Amino acid sequence: MSFPGAAVANDGQKTDGKGASPGLTVVGPEFETVGNVEASDAVITVRNSNVWYGETHALKNINLDIGRNEVVALIGPSGCGKSTFIRCLNRMNDTIESARVDGEFRLDGQDIYAKDMDVVLLRARVGMVFQKPNPFPKSIYENVAYGPRIHGLAGSRKELDDIVYGSLDKAGLLGEVKDRMDEPGTGLSGGQQQRLCIARAIAVNPEVILMDEPCSALDPIATARIEDLIDELREKYAIAIVTHSMQQAARVSQRTAYFHLGNLVEVGPTNKIFTNPSHKLTEDYVTGRFG
Ligand SMILES: Nc1ncnc2c1ncn2[C@@H]1O[C@H](COP(=O)(O)OP(=O)(O)OP(=O)(O)O)[C@@H](O)[C@H]1O
Ligand SMILES: [Mg+2]
Repeated sequence: MSFPGAAVANDGQKTDGKGASPGLTVVGPEFETVGNVEASDAVITVRNSNVWYGETHALKNINLDIGRNEVVALIGPSGCGKSTFIRCLNRMNDTIESARVDGEFRLDGQDIYAKDMDVVLLRARVGMVFQKPNPFPKSIYENVAYGPRIHGLAGSRKELDDIVYGSLDKAGLLGEVKDRMDEPGTGLSGGQQQRLCIARAIAVNPEVILMDEPCSALDPIATARIEDLIDELREKYAIAIVTHSMQQAARVSQRTAYFHLGNLVEVGPTNKIFTNPSHKLTEDYVTGRFG
C-alpha cells in the first residue's frame, strides 16, 4: 500500500539517495509494506514517518494504524525499531536529545506533534506499560491515585477511591491488594507490579495502551494473567504490544506488524502473518530462520 508522498521525508525533500542532508540518511522508496496498514476504526494513524537517532535511521517511512478494540502486535528482531515506533506515539522520544521524528502521527485525527499538544495529557491518553514494572515508590493506592489527581479527574475522596478501586479491579489486581492499599507498590510480586502499572495507566482514561514487552520479566503464570487482561482491555482501548514471543503475539493480537531494520515489512491479520505470510522476510522470522 502506498500513500501520497511516501518517498518524501524531511521537510518535503525527495529522498532519492542523492543530496540528503548529512545525518539524515536516505529513506528507501523501494520498500513498500505488504498488507493493509489501515484499521477499520483507527485511533492512531501514522503516515510517512521517519525517525533518526543522530545518524541512525531507526524508522523508515512507516505507515500504520492502531484501531479501537484491537490489539496490534509489533514483532521483529532486536533493533528493528519496535520500541522507537511506540515511543513516538506518546512523544517519549522528546526526551532523547539525538532523536528526530518526522511524518504524520495522529490520535483521533489530532496531530500528536502539534506545538499546542499538551504532552502530559497526551501521555494520559496514550498510556505506556514498560518491560520492567516501574511502580512509583509510593503506596499501592497512591500509585493509581497519582494520575487522576494531577489530571483533576476526581472531585472528592469518594470519587478518587472509586477510580482507584475500579482501575485495580479492571487490572485484575483488586482481590489481591484491597487489604493492603497502604503498602508500597514496590513490595508486590513482579506480575502484580505489572498489573499495578496497568491499573495506573487505566486510571486516567486512556484511549490507547502501549506495551513494550510487558511480560518479558514475568513467569508463565503471571504472563498468562496479563495476556487474559490484554484481551479484556481490548473491549475499551486500542492496544499495541511489542513482543519477542510469537506465541504471545498469536494469543493476544488480532493484527501483527513485522518490522525489519527500520522497515515495516508486512502487516496483516495475526493468523495470516503466522501461517501464510506474504513476504519472505516475515516468513523467515516467524519460522525461526532469522532473528
Ligand atoms: N536512545 C537511543 N539513542 C541512539 N540510538 C537508539 C536509541 N534508542 C534506539 N536506538 C537505535 O535505534 C534502532 C531501533 O531501536 P529500538 O530500541 O526501537 O529497537 P527494538 O526493535 O525495540 O529492539 P529490541 O527488540 O532490542 O528492544 C536501533 O538501531 C537502536 O540502536
Ligand atoms: Mg525494544
